[in-house]
Amino acid sequence: MRVLFLNGPNLNLLGQREPDVYGKTTLSDIEARVRGRANSLAATVDFRQSNHEGELVSWIHDARGKFDAIVINAAAYTHTSVALRDAIAGVGVPTIEIHISNVHAREEFRHHSVIAAVCRGQITGFGPFSYLLALEAAVNINGGREQG
Ligand code: DQA
Repeated sequence: MRVLFLNGPNLNLLGQREPDVYGKTTLSDIEARVRGRANSLAATVDFRQSNHEGELVSWIHDARGKFDAIVINAAAYTHTSVALRDAIAGVGVPTIEIHISNVHAREEFRHHSVIAAVCRGQITGFGPFSYLLALEAAVNINGGREQG
C-alpha cells in the first residue's frame, strides 16, 4: 500500500502559523507520526508540501500507477481550486480530503470544498490526528470498496 500525502499552501508554517487554530505541531512532526504509523501498517508513504497550485496538480498526475491512495490537505486551495478538483477526478486515484481545523465551524468561505465531491471522503477537525485517521482510511481502500 503506497500512500501519497500532499500538503498545500502555508502548511509549511504549521507550528508558527495561527497556533490557536492549527496548534503547535509542525509539519515535520506530523510527517514523523504518519511514518511511524505507516510502518506498523506496512504502508509506504511519500509526504510533500507545496505553495504552488500547479506543482500539486502535477504531483496528482504523477500519482497514477505509483500510489494506491492520495491524502490531501489542499489548505486554501480546497475552497478555490477547480484545477485540483479536475486533477483528482482525472487520475482516478482514490483521494481523501483532510483538514486540521474543522472547516465547517469556521468562516463561511471555508464551508465549501471544491474537491470534496471527487474525494472518497473528508476528515476535518481532528488536529494533526486527521492525518493518522486518513492513513487508516487509505489503507482500507481496496478496489473501490472498504475492507472490514
Ligand atoms: C486547512 C483549512 C483551510 O481552510 C485553510 O485555508 C488551511 C488549512 C486545515 O488544515 O485546517 O490552510 O486546510
